[in-house]
Formats: sequence, C-alpha cells, structure tokens
Amino acid sequence: MIEVPREDILTHLDRKIFKLISEIADEMGLRCYLIGGYVRDFFLYRPSKDIDVVAVGQGIDLAKAVSDKLGKKSRISVFKNFGTAQIKYKEYEIEFVGARKESYRLDSRKPIVEDGTLEDDQKRRDFTINAMAFCLNKDRFGELLDPFNGMQDLEDLIIRTPLDPDITFSDDPLRMMRAIRFATQLGFDIYPDTFDAIKRNNERIGIVSMERVVDELNKIILSPKPSVGFILLEKTGILDVIFPELTALKGAETKDGVGHKDNFYHTLTVLDNISRQTDNLWLRWAAILHDIAKPATKRWDPKLGWTFHNHNYIGEKMVPKIFRRLKLPQNEKMKYVQKMVSLHMRPMQLVEEEVTDSAVRRLLFDAGDGIDDLMTLCEADITSKNPEKVRRFLNNFKIVRRKLQEIEEKDRVRNFQPPIDGNEIMEIFGLPQCREIGLLKSTIKEAILEGEIPNEREAAFRFMLEKAEELGLKVKN
Ligand code: CTP
Repeated sequence: MIEVPREDILTHLDRKIFKLISEIADEMGLRCYLIGGYVRDFFLYRPSKDIDVVAVGQGIDLAKAVSDKLGKKSRISVFKNFGTAQIKYKEYEIEFVGARKESYRLDSRKPIVEDGTLEDDQKRRDFTINAMAFCLNKDRFGELLDPFNGMQDLEDLIIRTPLDPDITFSDDPLRMMRAIRFATQLGFDIYPDTFDAIKRNNERIGIVSMERVVDELNKIILSPKPSVGFILLEKTGILDVIFPELTALKGAETKDGVGHKDNFYHTLTVLDNISRQTDNLWLRWAAILHDIAKPATKRWDPKLGWTFHNHNYIGEKMVPKIFRRLKLPQNEKMKYVQKMVSLHMRPMQLVEEEVTDSAVRRLLFDAGDGIDDLMTLCEADITSKNPEKVRRFLNNFKIVRRKLQEIEEKDRVRNFQPPIDGNEIMEIFGLPQCREIGLLKSTIKEAILEGEIPNEREAAFRFMLEKAEELGLKVKN
C-alpha cells in the first residue's frame, strides 16, 4: 500500500487555516476532520483549494467561530436547511458540515440532517477514495481515518462505493455519473460490483436535475481522453437515458457488401483527437455533434452506396433542441457550435475539389473568426486507418491553411464588412429599402468573394454604378 510519511502529511497540514480550525474545535470540544476530495487530492498530488471539514456535532457553529476569528478577510454563508456553512478565505473555499447518519433522501437531494459519528458520515459518502479523513484535533492531528480502504483503492486505481452500491446510488443517483467522471479524469477503473449497480440503476439518472447531470458531462468532456467516459456512459446505459441522439450513431450497417463506419466510435475518436489540441469546451461539443444527423440522413443508394446528404445542415438544426434539453446555453456559444457543425465538411470539400481563391474566400467569409477552430475540427475528423490517406489529407490541409492565410492577408474577408453599405446605396440612388438595393448589395459581395473585384471601396463603387445602370437605376442629383 502507498506509504505516505507522516511528516509529509504534517508538513502539508502545517497551515494557519488548519491550525486555527484545530484550536477552535478543541476549545469547543468538537471532533473535526478534513474529508473528501481534499484528502483524496492530497494523495494524488493534485493541489486543491476546495476544503471539506466535517465536525461531529454542529458544523455551522464551528464555521461561525472560525469565521469570527478570521475576521474581515473571510466571508461566511450559512445554509441552515442543509446544515452546512461555507467560508471563503483568501484562495480557499471551506465547507463545514456536521457528521450525518443519513446523507440524502431517496429521490431528492434534500438531506435529512441527523447527527452521526465520523464513520456514519464516511459510509454515506460516494466512493472509498472520497471517504478518507484527516483528524484536525490536536491529540491526533494529521491521523488518517480510512475505514473503507480508500488508500488501497487509490493505489489500485479503483472507484468503489463504501456501502452496497445500490444504497449509495439511491442516496444520490448523480453519483453514477460521478463514478464515470472520476474514472475518466483520473484514469481509474470502476469496480465490477459498482459498475453493475450503475447498469442496474441507470434509469434513475432521470430523476436528477439536468443541470447537475450536464455539469458532470462537461467535466467528462474536459478530461484528457473523454472517450473513456462516453464508452462507460454507453456501456452502463446512462448515455441512452441522457443523450439518445448520441447512442443513435452506434452501429455499422452493411448492404451488398458495402459498409459504413460506426459513427459513434468515429465521433469519439474525433473528440479525443480534438481534445489533444484544445481545452475549448465548445469546440469539443462541436466534435461530439458534428455527425449527429447521420442517422437521420442515412440512405442507401445502389450507385453511391451509403449517403448522409446534408447531415451537416440537418445537424446544425438539431443543435438548439439538444442544447435546450441538456440545459446548455442558448447563446453565442450555441451559435458557434452550430456554425462548426454546419461547416465541418467545407475544408475537406475544398481539398477534394480544387483550392481556388474564390472557394477559400467563401470559406473565410462563412467561418469568420471561427476559421482556425474549423480547421482544427476538420483535421480531428480525419480518422482513416489508412496512413497513406491520412498523410495525404493532412498535407492538403496544410495547403488550405497556407492559402487561407494568403487570401486573408490580401483580401481581409474574414470579418467581411462591405466597402459600401446599404444605407449609402439607398442614399446614392434616392431609394428606400427595396429589392434592387438588396440585389446590388449581394452582387457586390459576390463579386468580391468571387475575386472579380478587390475588397476596396473605389473598385466596389465603380462596379456598383455599372450594375445599377444594368438595373436601370439612376444616381440621384
Ligand atoms: N459527495 C458525495 N456524494 C455526492 C457529492 C459529494 O458523497 N453526490 C462527497 C464526497 O465525499 C466528496 C465530497 O462530498 O469527496 C465533496 O464533493 P465535491 O466537492 O462535489 O467533489 P470532490 O470530491 O471534491 O471532487 P471535485 O472537486 O472534482 O468535484
């Protein structure tokens, strides 16, 4: 078993804040402990600013006394209904709670606050690795209390519930997602017994609020290798409950000897690929959703084989509904994801056809500031097993990137602002907003994107006069 020298623990706990809590708890005659994620992260060498303290007795009273002593530099919030209090002090957030016998009621998060011993409290926690405690009282300062062998599980890289998992998960079904999230973040395995219980209870994730579920999902997505979590979510049946659009991507059909790839595993590979390039949650979401409309658009064509026509556009339309159900933001973040989904095939089409200046200009115009992320997504989307093909694609992408840069430097169409705007055109011809004005505007834009005229005022002005004449418009005197 991992042996952490006692000195190391004492050195770590040798901080003003812990000493203070210790003294005050002793004065009040309360036993008190550091517990949960902070203790786990100490052994994993993951520095943490979130500190959980459990007191055998009134956690709130202890918090108030500590806050009084810390003075003005600390801020306390008391949650009487939950029997907890939080102190914000410097970089720390310290949560105080009284030890409990029962942590949560069956189908809600509302706790029944009932005093218990430390061990009562530890066994109502989610996982053995989250149930370890360090004593803070002076007589046993720094002593580890680990009745469920969390240290052994830390060493064996195991996520396991302290009690019968059916009990732990019915206390709070969100813990099923937490198990998968910790497994993904830490690279741990879920103990078979615990895993089977998640499978058995998967439907119960439906009683948890979507905000809490998605919070965990986003933590999985932000892990170094998110596919690990998605595969666990799928295997336990949780994914089907929370995100059926994604499980619909599973499977590879074959007809007349022609198969298509399994889009679920393809999507996970794209997600892992992109996660090596970026921490941007929304770009990672775009990877998850880029092929989401493939099941809806899948057709068999005897000549072409399997087709997924317009899956990018249908996918773009599916995003708002999925975001709404998952309680993800309905703002520019969503629009960004839609844009990525909608455009995700464009760079590839570009290299497959011909990298003409006008095609590059159009892509720059449509992607705007999202162009770099779009290129990252497209590169991540290359999941072919054929190394020759991968090499060719990546090489072509280099050409596109170079071309994008060249054209942007020359034409500045990335955040295209027309050199002559609608108001000005109305003014010149003395017309109100009408079809002709719209037509002139779009003709100028098209001519610039096509490269017929440069993106400059003078050229655009001359071009506009020519086109206006063709339309029979006269300049106002
Ligand atoms: N806990 C629990 N059941 C939950 C949530 C939390 O038993 N559904 C307990 C665990 O002991 C956990 C502690 O409360 O360690 C603190 O929870 P939280 O701050 O949410 O998580 P951490 O374990 O600290 O991990 P992270 O900060 O990565 O979320």
